[in-house]
This record gives sequence, structure tokens and C-alpha cells, in this order.
Amino acid sequence: MGVSSTAPLLLRAARGEKVDRPPVWMMRQAGRYMKAYRDLREKYPSFRQRSEIPEVAIEVSLQPWKAFQPDGVILFSDIVTPLPGMGIDMDVAEGKGPIINAPIRTQEQIDQLRTLEPDESLPFIKPILQALSQEVGNKSTVLGFVGAPWTLAAYAVEGKGSKTYSIIKNMAFTNPKLLDQLLTKFAESIAKYVCHQIDCGAQVVQMFDSWAGELSPQDYEIFAAPYQKMVFDKVKETHPDTPLILLVTGSAGLLERMAKSGADILTIDWTVDMADARTRLGKQWKVQGNLDPGVLFGSQEFIRDRILDTVRKAGDWGHILNLGHGVLPTTPEENVKFFFETAKNLNVLV
Ligand code: CP3
Repeated sequence: MGVSSTAPLLLRAARGEKVDRPPVWMMRQAGRYMKAYRDLREKYPSFRQRSEIPEVAIEVSLQPWKAFQPDGVILFSDIVTPLPGMGIDMDVAEGKGPIINAPIRTQEQIDQLRTLEPDESLPFIKPILQALSQEVGNKSTVLGFVGAPWTLAAYAVEGKGSKTYSIIKNMAFTNPKLLDQLLTKFAESIAKYVCHQIDCGAQVVQMFDSWAGELSPQDYEIFAAPYQKMVFDKVKETHPDTPLILLVTGSAGLLERMAKSGADILTIDWTVDMADARTRLGKQWKVQGNLDPGVLFGSQEFIRDRILDTVRKAGDWGHILNLGHGVLPTTPEENVKFFFETAKNLNVLV
């Protein structure tokens, strides 16, 4: 217990310890809804500058920490950040998201991909995570994150975000062996990247399989789940004590399948009632979520009611309070502040 009792709240809850109140953080808690971020964006107009110049990325990561003291501080970066280190050039376009200049669609291109060497190609990660650890000490938990193989492959093959995922689904359903090679390469590199983030100070790591919910359950089992598991299993070989969280966007039909991924904690989105998620997964599962990010447009009373409803349904063990997905760009900052204050005073309220 000695070590655990000084560990920060979110880490303790993520390990399955009983805590006084659910820890709370938000996905995309650093970003456009914050004036401090928008101001900094004028000085550093490119997303890659903001996320790859250590001093800037540290400042952005700490903006929500300074404003709201969340229980988790997440590295400011993007899921596509490791791609150039594998030989896939990319940029992140404002309002659009990742753009891959030469989409990966042929055997030759897949053969040419390199295994990620995080120390060499992502030299900014270590100073960023070290600075975050030093800044928050044991008052908060430092979170790392990565994209899952299917979601990264979707960007690499499509070349950008998509509504239909026609190009990667075409590959999946006509040439599954080719796609398997790409997904396997991503799994190897992403596992190394997770380990590197942990070695640099990440205490919990979340994997985003944002586009796996676009697959039918039977195809999720072929093209997403096995590669999620490859990453988690590989990380657990060397870093068994770091809690790993899995997020799949639009996962209502996939919860039970996500539970077989090897993750320790599952993110629940708001299309599933938290009580139903508990019933479906069993009480021994640790869960994160799951307010609709749009709730933060409501009144303070409304926000408080929804927090209380979620926390009561999640119960008093194994819950990390969060939105079901990222905070929306035009969300009022004072409502984010109210959300955190209310959540952090829960032991008084419930
Ligand atoms: O949570 C955090 O505070 C950490 C920051 C973070 C970013 N991207 C910064 C970012 C995280 C965790 C991500 C992950 C990410 N990136 C995901 C998985 C999460 C999810 O949404 O399911 C995905 C799919 C991406 C790809 C991506 N990057 C998209 C679709 C976009 C555009 C979003 C939009 O609405 O314009 C980005 C760009 C991006 N990444 C922004 C931020 C804050 C916005 C661009 C900007 O600030 O200039």
C-alpha cells in the first residue's frame, strides 16, 4: 500500500483501488474551446509546431491543468504524430484533421514502411512528458495516448478523414492480406510508442480506435480487435503495471467485444446508459465516461444533474469520470470549470 497511497487519484482508481470520489479529466481538454490555446495558435499556426516544439506542447498540455486542475493531464499531440517516423508524411489541417500526402495503398509502399524508433523520430516526447510529470507531481496523473492500428491505417490508406471509409474497406474486403501487413506494422510500432511514453513518464495510456465503430461487429473482430490486442499484449510484456484504456467511437454494439482486447479500462460513449454498460460488462470492469460532450452547453444545474446521474450509475468503484468523447470546440470555458469543480466536490454531494 505504501507506494499506492501516495500515487495520484486517477492512477489509483485505474489500478482498481477504492477511492473517495471518481477521478475526472476530459478528452481534448487542451484545445480550441480555450482562449489561451487560440491565442497561442496565432503565434504557432501549424499544429505540428504546437505539438512538436517541446516548450509549446508543454504549455498547451498545461493550459487545462492551470485552469481546472483535472485529475489527469494528457500529452498534447495527435494520433498521427508517429506516422512520419514510419515513413508516412503528414500534416494536420485546421478544422479538417490529418492529411497524408501520399496515401499508402500498394505492397511496395507497405514494404518501405519503417518500424518506429521513438527516441530518434519523436525526440520531443521525452521532454514533454518529463516536464508534465515534474509540473503535476502526485497532484495529477500524466496520461499518454496513441491511435490504434485500424484507425491509423484508415488515415494512412484514405489519406484523410472519411465519412464512408470506402478506400480502406475496399482494401479490407478485396485484399485482406495486404491490409493485415499494414495493420501488423502499425501494431508493432504503436506498441513501441506506448512503451516509450511510459518510460518517459506516462502513468496511464489511452488507445483511440476512433474509426473502429465504422466496422460491422464481425469485421471489427477481423480488422480492429486482433491488432488492439497485439498492442496491449506487447506492452503488458514489459510494462504490466501501467493501466491501459481503450476508446472506440460509436462502440455501443461492440462493448462486449472491446472487453476481450486486453485493455484494463473501457471508455463508454454517451449512446450507452452507464447502468446498461455496467450490466453488460459486469461489475468487475473498470469504465470511463460517459457524458454527452453537448451537456456542457447546458445550464449548471443540468450539468450537475448529469454528473450525479452518471456517477450513481457507475457506482463507487472502477469509474473514471469523463465525457463520452472530446470536448466540443465552442464549449463555454466556465462550464468546463463548473464540470471539474462539481466533479471534484462529489464526496460532499453524493
Ligand atoms: O485530449 C487532449 O487534450 C489531447 C489532444 C489530442 C488531440 N488529438 C489534439 C488535436 C488527442 C487525444 C487527439 C487524438 C485524435 N486525433 C483522435 C482520437 C480522438 C477522437 O477524436 O476520436 C483523432 C481521431 C485525431 C485526428 C484528428 N486530429 C482530427 C479528426 C482532428 C481535427 C478535429 C477538428 O474538429 O478539427 C485533429 C486535429 C487536432 N488534434 C486538434 C486538436 C486540439 C484540433 C486542431 C487544432 O487545434 O488546430
